[in-house]
Amino acid sequence: MDKIYITTPIYYVNDKPHVGHAYTSIACDALARFYRIAGYDVFFLTGTDEHGLKIQQSAEKKDINIQTFVDDVSRNFQNLSQSLMLTNDYFIRTTSEQHKNSASFFWETLVEKDQIYLDKYAGWYSVRDEAYYQEEELVNGKAPTGSEVEWVEEPSYFFRLSEWEKPLLDFYKKNPDFIKPKSRYNEVLRFVESGLRDLSVSRTGFKWGIPVPENNNHVMYVWLDALVNYLSALGYPDTAGDKFKRFWPADFHIVGKDILRFHGVYWPAFLMAADIPLPKQLVAHGWWTVEKEKMSKSLGNVVDPNEVIDEFGLDQFRYFLLREVPFGNDGDFSRDSLILRINSDLANNFGNLINRVFSMILKNFEGKVPKYSNLTKSEDALTGKIEILTSQYKNHMTSTDFSKAISKVIEIVSLVNKYIDSQEPWALAKNGETDRLSTVLRISLESIRILSFLIYPICPLSSLKILQSLGLDEEILALDSDALANFSFLKEDLIITKVDLLFPKIDKKIS
Ligand code: MSP
Repeated sequence: MDKIYITTPIYYVNDKPHVGHAYTSIACDALARFYRIAGYDVFFLTGTDEHGLKIQQSAEKKDINIQTFVDDVSRNFQNLSQSLMLTNDYFIRTTSEQHKNSASFFWETLVEKDQIYLDKYAGWYSVRDEAYYQEEELVNGKAPTGSEVEWVEEPSYFFRLSEWEKPLLDFYKKNPDFIKPKSRYNEVLRFVESGLRDLSVSRTGFKWGIPVPENNNHVMYVWLDALVNYLSALGYPDTAGDKFKRFWPADFHIVGKDILRFHGVYWPAFLMAADIPLPKQLVAHGWWTVEKEKMSKSLGNVVDPNEVIDEFGLDQFRYFLLREVPFGNDGDFSRDSLILRINSDLANNFGNLINRVFSMILKNFEGKVPKYSNLTKSEDALTGKIEILTSQYKNHMTSTDFSKAISKVIEIVSLVNKYIDSQEPWALAKNGETDRLSTVLRISLESIRILSFLIYPICPLSSLKILQSLGLDEEILALDSDALANFSFLKEDLIITKVDLLFPKIDKKIS
């Protein structure tokens, strides 16, 4: 069985989780669920990034012991994983002993390979971004991200990043799909082409980090510590261990566009220097604004994912995030667009389809799965189109084009609704044309069954509820042709049960 290793970035524990964090996690979860039902052995990792000055300062501001603070906030992220129904196989914390050992070993490997030397750093640092900036990168005295910067002058260990400029460029050129989308690939390429300087990889002014093995006055730069999580979760330094052998290199590191430089430049350079194979692909997604404003604490517009889930439902939230904007683009999170999406795609279209087909089967066949008789051109046309759309859906999912993949699912929903409208099963029932009625409802029911398979990565709760009404369970999910192109999949002695209302229409005024 082929394997797939998918990672989210690990989240800083300086504050509560918000919709931006939920977005990265949901995208990874959809991909993980997709690959699992496509027959792959999947390892899906998420976790929390718990060191660095930013976190130390947040704990100090609240006057809480740092370890207690990070334990609490990390728990919030673990709870969010549950409320988002993430199927992560492991949750890594960078304050765990295993990770600390792993990062120390990684550091020692770099030292052994003469990749690290002691010098002095004098330059700008942004605590909020946990990033170093060159003088020429600053915009009106601030980081290009708008964050405050401070002047830092201290002894520091440096990583010989400049030595990796050429190997990195060669690597990008040989692997044009290494970074997606293409615009982000080009951005990274341009950055490296403009020249790389050695990177400061330790700090001395504070203590909340992993001590540098040979000099405890220094803590490791939080990004070096954090990136190693992708290895330590697989048991590194035990590279001969089952997990590491099975899952490294990662297949997908999914990250926000703001942290591309760390993943697209520093991480491959660290790995090359340590002589470890490079991940296969980085996918950078865009950022969400809220009602057209940047999400920020000071504006008081930070969206708590739990509140959205409580009000609109988990599947609706996951659906909106992955459907609303092409993965890679920025998006705007607004109540109106959320409600519009839920009502138009889910309530009026998908929900309506399920509702009408199940009620007609319950009414006319006492819930028994209807039998086929002769198939006409209409059925052939519908099933033919469904086969094409399901294969397009699969291609879009494997290229992390979630929005396009979902649009194929909705196209199927619309087609089946149209098919029902044109066949007028209510008239067939009235006229006593039972064979034909039975065929139309069976084809429609099998289409819903196929839709429940396709929607599983995006809306797992609804998918499972439909399956339950069909007397099936999660194990049945698959994406091969027997599952997706088979319109006599359901057992004919089965009695289906009513599906709960999956997507209630939201009755809120749209401004
Ligand atoms: N700790 C680092 C990652 C280390 S990975 C080795 C970090 N953490 S973070 O908590 O600040 O951000 C985590 C993820 O959330 C990033 O992918 C980031 O892009 C994403 N988002 C944070 N705010 C966001 C939005 N407003 N919109 C979309 N995603 C955003 O960076």
